[in-house]
Amino acid sequence: MDGEGSGCPVAHAPRPQAPVEDVTAEAVEFLGLYHAERRLPDVAARIAEVREEIALTGTYRHTSEELSYGAKVAWRQSVRCVGRVRWAGLKVRDRRDVTTVAGIAQELAQHLSVADNGGRIQSVMTVFAPDRPGVGPRARIWNDQLIRYCGHRTDDGSVLGDPAQVAMTEAARRLGWRAPAVPGRFDLLPWVIETAYEDPTLVEVPRDLVREVALTHPAYPWFEELRLRWHALPVISNMRLRVGGVDYSCAPFNGHYLSDEIGTRNMGDRDRYDQLLPVARELGLDTSREDTLWREHAVLVINQAVLHSFRAAGVRVSDPHTESELFMKFCAQEERAGRPVHGDWSWLNGSVGWAALHAVHHRYYDTRVPDPNLWQGDRAYGTSGVVGLTLRERHDAARRQEG
Ligand code: ARG
Repeated sequence: MDGEGSGCPVAHAPRPQAPVEDVTAEAVEFLGLYHAERRLPDVAARIAEVREEIALTGTYRHTSEELSYGAKVAWRQSVRCVGRVRWAGLKVRDRRDVTTVAGIAQELAQHLSVADNGGRIQSVMTVFAPDRPGVGPRARIWNDQLIRYCGHRTDDGSVLGDPAQVAMTEAARRLGWRAPAVPGRFDLLPWVIETAYEDPTLVEVPRDLVREVALTHPAYPWFEELRLRWHALPVISNMRLRVGGVDYSCAPFNGHYLSDEIGTRNMGDRDRYDQLLPVARELGLDTSREDTLWREHAVLVINQAVLHSFRAAGVRVSDPHTESELFMKFCAQEERAGRPVHGDWSWLNGSVGWAALHAVHHRYYDTRVPDPNLWQGDRAYGTSGVVGLTLRERHDAARRQEG
């Protein structure tokens, strides 16, 4: 479900910019798929038009409908995502004309609110301007998700908060962000947004739009005292949507959480919140040896707490049984439509010993990763700031060349 706290539905390797012939080939393939699946006429006319546009400009502009359908297919083909039965329900917000940091920030806030939907979380993608071929993204969000907790490096070298976010927390600080006077384990990270005209800019996340759930357990009153919490929305913001040969590096999207992602990985991983030992101690388990399976016991209890707390708070969350059943439904649908089920078995299956209880475990998947898809974006920042040039510098150079 989760790779080092990154995103769910994706293929890993960054993708180099394609030459014009490839853009044309991908465009033709995508338009064919779009017209066939939607039963639309006149694919030949649209292809001729797009060919001409590519010949003139090196790229082409999707219609809003093409973009929206392409985004849905990208989800449908995301090999790591187990929630794909919902692909056709993705709500796509076409915001290609919003290009300033202020405008983007406003749209991100809007995204949070539409996706949150009072706790009945909806799957949403907001698509900003496409990348400029040969130059790079026109906008980029440094954060890997729109809602993330800081990882504060403390004097003794340990981390307060989410260790997966130490680098991002330091990147924000270097840009002038001030952490709360009393740092905590669940401080919200600010957004860092850059565009073709604006340097990386800090934006405070609108607090009132961030729904969080305090974790409690139905049977263990002490669980509450651990003071654990998590946010309701996983909004991945550093992946590149690729549709018909066009890259959209700024296209944040969300689904809703699966209990495992929070309970097992975010809370359980030793390099994340590392909560198995404290929970096992409260449970009175023998942690002196591994063969008491105290870790499995503790992780189960945390997963129960996640499901219980989210349900009690009226926030949409999935359990592994339901999700496995739904994924089997997706597989059947795809096979009925004559399509292979693309999938990465290691990501589709849950992370704990109970994975074999679910049908997802008991079959194979087509391991190819076709476009449209969602790809890991290029790394925007490193330990000493921006990696390579800022977007503004890259676009400035291209603008100078054009004279
Ligand atoms: N595993 C990631 C996290 O814990 C979220 C990835 C996307 N998950 C999802 N259900 N859409 O934050």
